[in-house]
Amino acid sequence: MPNKKIVVLTGAGVSAESGLSTFRDSGGLWDGFDVNEVASIDGWHKKPQKVLDFYNLRRIQAAKALPNLAHLHLKKLEENFEVVIVTQNVDDLHERAGSSNVIHLHGKLSEARSEVDPYEIIEIGINNINIGDISKDGTQLRPAIVWFGEMVPMIEIAAHEVSTSDILIVIGTSLAVYPAAGLIHYAKNEIRKIIIDPSKPELISLSGWEHIPKRATEGVPELVNDLINTILNERT
Ligand code: OAD
Repeated sequence: MPNKKIVVLTGAGVSAESGLSTFRDSGGLWDGFDVNEVASIDGWHKKPQKVLDFYNLRRIQAAKALPNLAHLHLKKLEENFEVVIVTQNVDDLHERAGSSNVIHLHGKLSEARSEVDPYEIIEIGINNINIGDISKDGTQLRPAIVWFGEMVPMIEIAAHEVSTSDILIVIGTSLAVYPAAGLIHYAKNEIRKIIIDPSKPELISLSGWEHIPKRATEGVPELVNDLINTILNERT
């Protein structure tokens, strides 16, 4: 029998206990920054230096952060399940925890792209992007982040993964941003659907969801150990 497939949709809450701010909690990133200035194509055209400063700072913060128990337990799930992580996060903490199949819906801090071609990408690691840094096609490099109002190239692949999952786990996202939030509607009716988040996003007050109202570093290890014990018992 092939392993059951678990798709895990994560948001900023999974990295919160690694010291990276969420967006919409009080004191979150969108309290201190205007989303239209730093995370939109319009903001980029008006104040590119401000946008670069914002992501250069976030890149350094993410590089200093370490995967937490939630990231590490999601890696552990791979021992007994096929696991696909679909993350809205631009950090690489899932990868650094060892997860082997991670889809980044909103891009990655460690990549820069051409201003005109979203597929002309270069790996920059922890380096800054500066005004005057040029892509192969001669245009200014910009963060390879999917900004508000832009297409989300990975959305169809992610939707396919959710639609073929046997269990869907959602961790630490307000489900306030589309099209990412809409992914939950691709899950088959009969599958187990679980959300781990101290708050319950409005979108899943619908029936059929189990809500674990805990922080990621507490709720994820508990759930992962429970899922592994259950599958091992089923197999014996
Ligand atoms: P939000 O800031 O909107 O939501 C964070 C969620 O994490 C909330 O539901 C919190 O209750 C929860 N949370 C906080 N601390 C937690 C913890 N320790 N453990 C578990 N959950 C916790 O962040 P996202 O939903 O990820 O996009 O935001 C989605 C997108 O909006 C981001 O990818 C970003 C942003 O604008 C772009 O910049 C394009």
